[in-house]
Amino acid sequence: MSTKAKIATIGQYVDQEVLLEGWLWNKRSSGKIAFLNIRDGSGFIQGVVAKEDVPEELFALAKGLSQETSIRVTGKVRAEERSPIGYELTVTGIEVVSRTEDYPITPKEHGVDFLLDHRHLWIRSPRQRAILKIRAEVIKGMRDFFDKNGFTQVDPPILTPSSAEGTTNMFQTEYVNGENAYLSQSGQLYMEAAAMALGKVYSFGPTFRAEKSKTRKHMNEFWMIEPEMAYVEHAENMQIQEALVKHTIKHVLDNCPQELKAIQRDTAPLERVVNEKFPIITYAEAVKILQEKGHDFPYGEDFGAPHETELTNHFDLPVFVEKWPANIKAFYMQPDPEDNSVILGADLLAPEGYGEIVGGSQRIHDYELMKERYAEHGFDESYNWYLELRQYGSVPHSGFGIGLERTIAWICGIDHIRETIMIPRTLYRLYP
Ligand code: 4AD
Ligand code: MG
Repeated sequence: MSTKAKIATIGQYVDQEVLLEGWLWNKRSSGKIAFLNIRDGSGFIQGVVAKEDVPEELFALAKGLSQETSIRVTGKVRAEERSPIGYELTVTGIEVVSRTEDYPITPKEHGVDFLLDHRHLWIRSPRQRAILKIRAEVIKGMRDFFDKNGFTQVDPPILTPSSAEGTTNMFQTEYVNGENAYLSQSGQLYMEAAAMALGKVYSFGPTFRAEKSKTRKHMNEFWMIEPEMAYVEHAENMQIQEALVKHTIKHVLDNCPQELKAIQRDTAPLERVVNEKFPIITYAEAVKILQEKGHDFPYGEDFGAPHETELTNHFDLPVFVEKWPANIKAFYMQPDPEDNSVILGADLLAPEGYGEIVGGSQRIHDYELMKERYAEHGFDESYNWYLELRQYGSVPHSGFGIGLERTIAWICGIDHIRETIMIPRTLYRLYP
């Protein structure tokens, strides 16, 4: 019996015979030799079947294998310079586990709607697989940063009685007792309670927004990491975001060289991010830059995609845009004591046109001021608990939310965030 091996760690078995359990991704063959591209989930390897070296039936079997047929393959591992992974397999046996006929995704080009309809199969492709591997490492890198820096993970509820970020884009459902319930748009308000209990906390979970946006940056279900920190103010909040982003990128560069290569990501712009200080500009300065570049953009509006792209191209690094007009930002943001028409918060815009990946701010901690905001917004009693946080041991505190999929799209250099998650939930698509 041959040793069971995985392609990812096949280098341990040079010159030994191993058993691989996987699938045939594709193949090339001539009258004399068949090259099998075998995948096993952990990676891809080329298996070589030479007619003159193997029994006739084995060569015939290899030549006849169809794409995505599941197979157990035995063979001898050889070091091979020309291989992208450094090894090849000289095949000595093949067992067909389940034969596949007419696999829908062939090596030819397919339209994106076709691929999305077959997303459950599309994820087997080398590029999609690499993106999902990178996603896992982005998550690991982020968690690693928080765990090393004294944060505790806390899980806020997903079913909530009220909105955290505005009432217009919530998924509503009926709770078991007949009350209205909503899927969480952000765990932030609960995380503020957690920060008062544990100091530095972070959540990591799914987020739901019922907005009808059809852009390459929006999904209706996405994942967000939301740190919240007691006794941390605006400037330090940005420093922590910068350190998190640098740590995460470095983690991916160190742990995913093959995947980054598989998706042909130019890593030079990412290396620059790890090594340079992120600029900070005010919203007012950003508006001025846009106007100087010929955009007809009035002070007081939110940026659209072309504005974010212009700004990030201007800096070529992630850039913090801070001190936004209070009236276009959320009710909980702390006014700037030097000019209370703007808030102590920032969005972090990723370079290369990717735009906003983080939204964060210092939170109002003054009880009277928060009561004013409640009156302005007409909040009902479902928000009472949040006001109580300002009544009992209130302290300055800050936090932010980093969108996982937008961060991955940027790190991978891909066009649309729907490829950064296994099964995307976007406008017009709830399948598969
Ligand atoms: O800017 P947002 O809406 O901020 C909040 O929800 C705050 N409560 C976070 C906090 O301070 N704890 O969302 C934060 C990030 C955005 O910068 C973006 O990266 C991502 O979440 N995001 C989306 N990602 C994909 N699809 C969408 N529809 C998104 N909306 C926001
Ligand atoms: Mg935002």
